[in-house]
Amino acid sequence: MSKVVLDVSTSLDGFTAGPNVHQEEPTGNGGERLHKWYAGKGSDGEVDLAVGRESEGTLGPAPVHRLTDLIDGVRGAVAAQTDWAATAQLVAEQLRTHLPAPDVLTAEQRLGSPDDYRGHTLYVEPDGSFSIVALVWRPGQITRIHDHVTWCVLGVIQGAEHEELFDADLNMIGSSDNHVGEVSGFAPPGGIHRVRNNTETTAISIHIYGTDITRLGSSARRYYD
Ligand SMILES: [Fe+2]
Repeated sequence: MSKVVLDVSTSLDGFTAGPNVHQEEPTGNGGERLHKWYAGKGSDGEVDLAVGRESEGTLGPAPVHRLTDLIDGVRGAVAAQTDWAATAQLVAEQLRTHLPAPDVLTAEQRLGSPDDYRGHTLYVEPDGSFSIVALVWRPGQITRIHDHVTWCVLGVIQGAEHEELFDADLNMIGSSDNHVGEVSGFAPPGGIHRVRNNTETTAISIHIYGTDITRLGSSARRYYD
């Protein structure tokens, strides 16, 4: 019988990989640094191993593991090859079921930025069929009025977001306050919207888009303001 040995390094804040995990870069951006403690110069094997054993069972699962079920679910929804609107609803079901906790981001990422809302790409499917992004909004931060190049699903994992919907003439046709656990999905045509955090606390949401946003640079199709 063959034996498979798997060694995993986890940072103290619970990460086994850097951001932007790709097939070509399986440990994400800068992920190699996580493994220097045993493979790099200056590592102190005995001490590090002792700390590692002490930590076993006390650290939560790493983001890649936390996202595994969501990624599998979205992959299945996309593989159904229905139209965009139906895909968005199937993906929304998966996000509802496998909604990550805020600690899918590092403590530093969860702070957001004083300049603008911040996006962090958590995962891109190797064939480019979908991307998972976390957006961090400080109080008052707001998007421009925009729509998307593809289907989009979003779910709030911390705080609340206010969303306004517009028709093609930019008349506001609806608005909603989305709280933790609320998930919605939509697809072009339509879906012209603006999102803001009009609460007093930092909000975080997960957005899943039906494209590789790292290639396009953005999921926005057009800005209207
Ligand atoms: Fe949007």
